[in-house]
Amino acid sequence: MSGGTKRIFVCNNKRTTPISCGLRLDASGMADQLIELLGEADTETEYQVIKSKCLGRCQHGPVLGIFPDNAWYSYEDREDLGEIVSEHVENERPVERLAIRRTTRTAA
Ligand code: FES
Repeated sequence: MSGGTKRIFVCNNKRTTPISCGLRLDASGMADQLIELLGEADTETEYQVIKSKCLGRCQHGPVLGIFPDNAWYSYEDREDLGEIVSEHVENERPVERLAIRRTTRTAA
């Protein structure tokens, strides 16, 4: 595994029009679950989870971005987060099923 430090930004933005990631589900709670899953992950890389404002990919929300990988994922539940951790974090393989590919950035 690669080591070093990576950051995962989890959109926690709360806006009603259009509805934002933080209102589609409990994004803050999901970020906490991600921290928990990362704590159990088999990786030498240190991950920091940041509960962020809008990441400009609202149409795919709820979303998270992993840097410096520049990997973007849409997720719905703990299972999705677990798959991101087991595939992307532990095995350094993108999760095709959840990946956000070409996006048009949108305003916060
Ligand atoms: S509200 Fe989450 S990306 Fe914009």
